[in-house]
Amino acid sequence: MTRHFLTLLDLEQADLEKLIRRAIELKTLHSAGEAYAPFPGRVLGMIFDKASTRTRVSFETAMAHFGGHAIFLSPRDTQLGRGEPVEDSARVLSSMVDAVMIRTFSHELVERFAEYSSVPVINALTDKCHPCQLLADIQAYTEQRGDIIGRTVAWIGDGNNMCHSYINAATQFNFKLNIATPPGYEPDAAIVAAAGDRISLSHSPQEAASGVDLIATDVWASMGQEEEQKKRERDFAGYEVNQKLMDIANDDALFTHCLPAHRGEEVSAEVIDGPQSITWIAAENRLHSQKALLEYLLLNS
Ligand code: CP
Ligand code: NVA
Repeated sequence: MTRHFLTLLDLEQADLEKLIRRAIELKTLHSAGEAYAPFPGRVLGMIFDKASTRTRVSFETAMAHFGGHAIFLSPRDTQLGRGEPVEDSARVLSSMVDAVMIRTFSHELVERFAEYSSVPVINALTDKCHPCQLLADIQAYTEQRGDIIGRTVAWIGDGNNMCHSYINAATQFNFKLNIATPPGYEPDAAIVAAAGDRISLSHSPQEAASGVDLIATDVWASMGQEEEQKKRERDFAGYEVNQKLMDIANDDALFTHCLPAHRGEEVSAEVIDGPQSITWIAAENRLHSQKALLEYLLLNS
């Protein structure tokens, strides 16, 4: 059976835990300068309908380290961008490459692509979720503080794709998640309901941050919402993660942001560039955790 990674819920909990441990191992191997190239000749197709720095570079580098190759496909240059049906593109691309990574707007498009693909499909961000970022975030937390199981995390800001993936992570890694959003920016009710009583929702960043082990946030206007930037700046006033908010969390609490960040909006420079921030570790971990993901999908499919 072809395995896909469209949300964190696609993998068993035990497999996700193994994947994080493997990502840590692969990072150690890489720092020791040891070459590990299990996939000579294997090819990853990378479809990008939205901008990216980390996702593109981490997947492309992962395939290079693994002895394989990655092909960057933009809508400007492919027939998919000119309206070729996603089903047809999926059939043809998957007959040539060994895995496909997609960053796009509609989550349904990725689901449809996966349905018609004969090789693993990875969600590299949709409007609904961003599971790859969570692998890197969980790896970073685990490296710094040990297992995240049983801890409490606060999500401050927009109930967006990253927030949805934090909700799925709360289920899969078994932690509590306090979410604070402005009214009208709550996460999808069905995603929240599926996670049960691990999730608490409020409109108070202070309430959400109280006694937590990790605070995470993201931009107020995601890709595709640029024209709402000004309105969102007004609506999200008071939702900045600053030192005052970090001080409400536990003494050894950490901070993370998937990046790109807007200092002075969702996070202060003092916090993102300060000693509690694992943002940069998580960003680097995109490389190692996605190597573990590629290994898992290509060796198990
Ligand atoms: N965090 C993240 O996915 O970054 P990019 O948009 O640069 O890929
Ligand atoms: N929520 C952001 C995440 C970027 C990695 C966006 O979708 O633009």
